[in-house]
Amino acid sequence: MKLVKKEMLTRLNKYIADSGITSRRKSEEYILQGRVTVNNKVVKELAYKVNSEQDSVMLDGEKITPRKHIYFLLNKPAGVITSTDDEKKRRTVVDLIKVNEKIFPVGRLDYNTTGVLLLTNDGEFSNLLTHPRNKVPKEYEVKLDKPLSNEDIEKLLKGIFIERRKGVFVKISLLSPNKKVARITTFEGRNHFVKKMFGALGYYVTGLNRKSFAGFTADVPLSSYRKLSKTEIEGVFKNYAK
Ligand code: URA
Repeated sequence: MKLVKKEMLTRLNKYIADSGITSRRKSEEYILQGRVTVNNKVVKELAYKVNSEQDSVMLDGEKITPRKHIYFLLNKPAGVITSTDDEKKRRTVVDLIKVNEKIFPVGRLDYNTTGVLLLTNDGEFSNLLTHPRNKVPKEYEVKLDKPLSNEDIEKLLKGIFIERRKGVFVKISLLSPNKKVARITTFEGRNHFVKKMFGALGYYVTGLNRKSFAGFTADVPLSSYRKLSKTEIEGVFKNYAK
């Protein structure tokens, strides 16, 4: 009898999602609908474990081949765009990571914003971290053109309307005696959100650094990156996949 290593065994829904066709949740629906076969037999058991080296898995009669997912944490420098390519041929965050597979950024940071940014080729991972429903925390250090007043701190914590939708910071602390540097926390991911919130009250953001994203901190030097650990990746699915 051939021995099967534990790491070769994958839950059927994860195996399907890893192919990039759909999410784990949708995969479960397909399994329950009897659309999935393993070695030509319909399997409706969600906890079924597939041997990724030997088993042949099909969805609606089409063979499924999982891709290997990769995940990076980058400490983004200023002067780089958060995109996979740029028509003006400016440097992108993807250019900073030496890898052959196609990867994309999870959410975005502005051209001159620095700090923690995740990149992956796993669409489901990215969706979990960018969907507003998941309220993923983001912390920024913000430099302002003038001192932040207590009155405006209160307004930002209560919420103000930007583009007809209320935006809110859940925490604000002042980091400098001149009150021009603050650390803010938000769950929002709208484009230019921090600048627009301050802009709405007449402040201009002169510097922006993302200190943390979903609990990940910029723990590598500026412009450097590292791979996420298995525990970190599983943590994201555990925390955000419902
Ligand atoms: N909010 C902004 O205004 N810019 C960023 O880069 C990130 C959040």
